[in-house]
Amino acid sequence: MFPTTRLRRLRATPVLRALVAETRLSPDDFIYPVFIDARLSDPEEIGSMPGQFRWPVGAIGAEATRLHQLGLRSMLLFGLPEWKDETGSSSWHDDGVVQRAVAAIKEAVPSMLVVTDVCLCEYTTHGHCGVLQGEKVLNDPTLDLLARQAISHVRAGADIVAPSDMMDGRVAVLRGALDREGYADTPILSYAAKYASAFYGPFREAAESAPAFGDRRSYQMDVRNAREALREVDEDLHEGADMVMVKPALPYLDVIRRVRDRVDVPVVAYNVSGEYSMLKAAGAAGMLDEVGAVAETLTAIKRAGADIIVTYHAPDVLRWLQEGRIS
Ligand code: PBG
Repeated sequence: MFPTTRLRRLRATPVLRALVAETRLSPDDFIYPVFIDARLSDPEEIGSMPGQFRWPVGAIGAEATRLHQLGLRSMLLFGLPEWKDETGSSSWHDDGVVQRAVAAIKEAVPSMLVVTDVCLCEYTTHGHCGVLQGEKVLNDPTLDLLARQAISHVRAGADIVAPSDMMDGRVAVLRGALDREGYADTPILSYAAKYASAFYGPFREAAESAPAFGDRRSYQMDVRNAREALREVDEDLHEGADMVMVKPALPYLDVIRRVRDRVDVPVVAYNVSGEYSMLKAAGAAGMLDEVGAVAETLTAIKRAGADIIVTYHAPDVLRWLQEGRIS
């Protein structure tokens, strides 16, 4: 018998394909990461991330307005402070770079959802995500500093805090501190399964946060492990995380899928700087079609199970969706 099933029937026209599509990109899916630099008076393009800029505090309100007009609803903030020290204390000052940027964005676009990255590496002279004893990154003494930073972000107007340091127990400490300070309604998006990845290279240039010695493998996850990611996710949910993140995204689609199948909270995937720069470089060199490759990548991340994608491609994708170049 010639087959009665012909899968090509449902692929015949664009309308039919759109009707039966299982995965769709929507403007609501994206969180756009931005870098704010306290030392700048004009925006500066980031060499390792073509099309991305470090923004002065004074210009971020206008940029948020432009992004909002494109349909962007959520941003994730990283700060480059005026000065650094051993404990990263410039990260919890009420007039710190992220705190001022949050206020500026909220003033320009009150409805913009502002997520702040909570970590010490951009603020410490040694570039590690926690405080040191010799060359050891200490877990427990770091927790209170992260909590101070998170509270000052929320006091400045942040809607969600996102700890990315990978210290054990930080979600519980942040939750307790937020609740005590009167911020019981502020959600925590934890970077739950964050791998020690080579794909953060361009970010570290952008944020000037490369470790001065050693690497992050004593706190970020081993690339070889997937079951361990589930333990990280379980632990963060147990401590009170509202959403969990897998990071990076593209080389970890299996982890995204396993996390999605295990938990019922929103799953976020971080399409990191190295993933972005690879496609930008290949596109600029004419090696592949940037629009198609970006759309395919982000669709694959959603298909793997992510509800939300943190991506530097967000403004481009919003424009391409509006223009009907991708769907
Ligand atoms: C801070 C932090 C990093 C990233 C997000 N938060 C760098 C790192 O852990 O070294 C990387 C994001 C990216 O590569 O786009 N700890």
